[in-house]
Amino acid sequence: MLSVLVCVSGGGTNLQALIDGVESGLIRETKIVRVISNNKNAYALTRARKHGIEGVCVSPGDFPDRETFHQAFLRSVEEAAPDLIVLAGFLVVIPEQIIHKYRNRILNIHPSLIPSFCGKGCYGLKVHEKALERGVRITGATVHFVDEGTDTGPILLQKAVEVRQGDTPETLQRRVMEEAEWTLLPRAVDLFARGMITVKDGRAEIAGPEMMKQ
Ligand code: GRF
Repeated sequence: MLSVLVCVSGGGTNLQALIDGVESGLIRETKIVRVISNNKNAYALTRARKHGIEGVCVSPGDFPDRETFHQAFLRSVEEAAPDLIVLAGFLVVIPEQIIHKYRNRILNIHPSLIPSFCGKGCYGLKVHEKALERGVRITGATVHFVDEGTDTGPILLQKAVEVRQGDTPETLQRRVMEEAEWTLLPRAVDLFARGMITVKDGRAEIAGPEMMKQ
């Protein structure tokens, strides 16, 4: 059984997709053992608790400096003893110590087709604003492993989503979630739980028959 820790900052619709995936059996051999939020008012924490998952808040604002926050965050991660960490809309930079310790065991979802519209400062609605500004016809979402950079780790799954005439950042964000994020993230966790993923030389590979289902 794969123990998963999910880190969130906001509404938690991606967390909900994971919870639903586990409960419906779409995600196999997996238990979500803890949800950490940096924001005590995040609705994601309520979603976790409603499903009997421990939801805890570890917020930088509650600590005198970044280092003390990092230690508390690390403690909370270690207590949960996860096999996999999923960043599902987590707006805090992960301490390097955790990246080293959980190399190729941290997944992030980003609402664009990396390498477009990603990197420092490119998160949330800003991603979709930039896509609309550039006038792309296709955008999408990416699930990737987390390394020391911002959105630079090995890409695991991507799905394209059409941009429509008259889209606003909000309508585009919603379509990217509905058509890509909420299916990609559960699929990524299921693949991980079933040992279908290997990471070599900075590239993620999916075992043959599963890759064909892309
Ligand atoms: C998603 O668009 C995700 O890709 C991004 O932040 C958003 C989180 O939404 N990183 P939610 O909290 O899962 O509803």
